[in-house]
Amino acid sequence: MSTTSSKVPTVALNDGHTIPQLGFGVFQVPPDTTARAVSTALEAGYRHIDTAEMYGNERGVGEAVRASGLDRSDVYITSKLNNGYHRPDDARKAFAQTLSELGTDYVDLFLIHWPLPTLYGGDFVSTWETLAAFKQDGRARSIGVSNFQVEHLKRLQSATEIVPAVNQIELHPYLLNDEVRSYGEANGIATEAWSPIAKGRVLGDPVVTKIAERLGRTPAQVVLRWHIQRGSIVFPKSTTPARIEENFDLFDFELADDDIAKIASLDKGETGRTGPNPDTFAMIPG
Ligand SMILES: NC(=O)c1ccc[n+]([C@@H]2O[C@H](COP(=O)([O-])OP(=O)(O)OC[C@H]3O[C@@H](n4cnc5c(N)ncnc54)[C@H](OP(=O)(O)O)[C@@H]3O)[C@@H](O)[C@H]2O)c1
Repeated sequence: MSTTSSKVPTVALNDGHTIPQLGFGVFQVPPDTTARAVSTALEAGYRHIDTAEMYGNERGVGEAVRASGLDRSDVYITSKLNNGYHRPDDARKAFAQTLSELGTDYVDLFLIHWPLPTLYGGDFVSTWETLAAFKQDGRARSIGVSNFQVEHLKRLQSATEIVPAVNQIELHPYLLNDEVRSYGEANGIATEAWSPIAKGRVLGDPVVTKIAERLGRTPAQVVLRWHIQRGSIVFPKSTTPARIEENFDLFDFELADDDIAKIASLDKGETGRTGPNPDTFAMIPG
């Protein structure tokens, strides 16, 4: 089966590929319920799934994609290299394992999950060159990074010719992460916004709830629509079927510029982070 044309816009990447701007994230979705959640998302119309080796649920993602009857080429799949495998030999083995878990012969996008600047002698360049080989042999259609700060992106730029297609960073109304986002914009690196609704924390904010009430939408829809209009790629996570549908229903309303600015003014800078700071994060899952 092939997909009918989707309401979801695509974003053009710097390597000639495109990515659906809205997807479905599976961080903290337990392995044994992942296939069910992803199946619900595919039925709702999502065609972009964001997983990672670290999430331990790539197998469930692959199962759901196969069970959907959709062509593999109709579903955009991203995965990410786990923190313990930055050395080139380990990265090659880990990537082969990712393909095996997903049960596919390619991923659409493969990312270095975290830069880990305090580990591996600060060397993420050789890891990046290893991902470049996956792109060259066709097993990763696009390659990118996640949680890279401007300094890390500059290092890749000075050491290699290959510009990441995306940088997946924490970004939501409480953490605009504007320095990293602007650097990406200026250098052809698309920004993916992780924890787009700040894991739910931003949904009770009076600025958001007021706009939602006025427009007759939910707070989650308002915040996700805000990302879409600012050009970021998003993949909210939910295991609640009604929310999975709600988060996909973003394409029949618009926010005014004034509302977009009001939501952006909620930025709390560093204190708005829900996750670790990439400059110091050094966790290797056991
Ligand atoms: N690269 C990285 O380092 C990194 C880090 C974190 C996340 N990510 C990616 O980004 C994706 C999204 O981030 P996230 O999972 O951290 O957080 P998120 O999508 O901002 O929020 C998920 C939380 O919000 C709730 N929720 C979802 N939709 C809702 C709605 N319409 N109304 C009310 N509550 C709602 C979910 O609850 P229920 O599930 O109970 O419905 C869940 O608790 C991840 O799944 C992952 O793919 C990447």
